[in-house]
Amino acid sequence: WMRRPMSLYSIDKVAGRLAFLYKCEGRGTQGMATLEAGDEFNIAGPYGNGFHLEPGWKNIVVLGRGVGLATLAPLSQMASEAGVHITAILSARKPELVMSRELFEGFGADIITVVDNDGSSDVDKVEAILLGLIEGGKAVAFFTCGSNRLLALMKRLGKEYGVPGQVAMEQIMACGLGACYICVRTFEVDGKKVLKRVCRDGPVFDMQEAVGW
Ligand code: FES
Repeated sequence: WMRRPMSLYSIDKVAGRLAFLYKCEGRGTQGMATLEAGDEFNIAGPYGNGFHLEPGWKNIVVLGRGVGLATLAPLSQMASEAGVHITAILSARKPELVMSRELFEGFGADIITVVDNDGSSDVDKVEAILLGLIEGGKAVAFFTCGSNRLLALMKRLGKEYGVPGQVAMEQIMACGLGACYICVRTFEVDGKKVLKRVCRDGPVFDMQEAVGW
């Protein structure tokens, strides 16, 4: 009955083609995986507010984990097309699960891979990487998706070092249009707790407003 919310994975303006990256988990995504070239498929969108880049940002850091990396891919494409240098920190449980490496490489990003099985994805290790990037002038803005603890880390460092940031929130959705309020989450704006709809007010939010989950 309900549509599945999905972020874009890549945009090919020349060919007029969009790509989506998804994991086959339930009936909906398993059904999608049976589609063949030429089949018809009903989609709606784009909805909500995506990432944006300020003209002065010449060095950005994208930090994602798991499928959250897919959400950061079009932002990296946009940055690459605007001549913005990207450092992509790709986090996963193990090396074979690191997603989208080739895609980020194609955007000319400096890639840093961190994984759980050697401890390199520990928050203190990622913090050291981010501090190095801040000191080296490579972190003018932060972007993240896919991990609450990495969001908390970027938020804390962003506040301490004055680095603006954006986060794409993941949330269950129903209507996707702002009508049903199923996707409401709590945010913190000017010290006050406020409720916002992830589908319509986001899914990308100012990192300092995000409370995590
Ligand atoms: Fe209905 Fe967001 S999904 S308001």
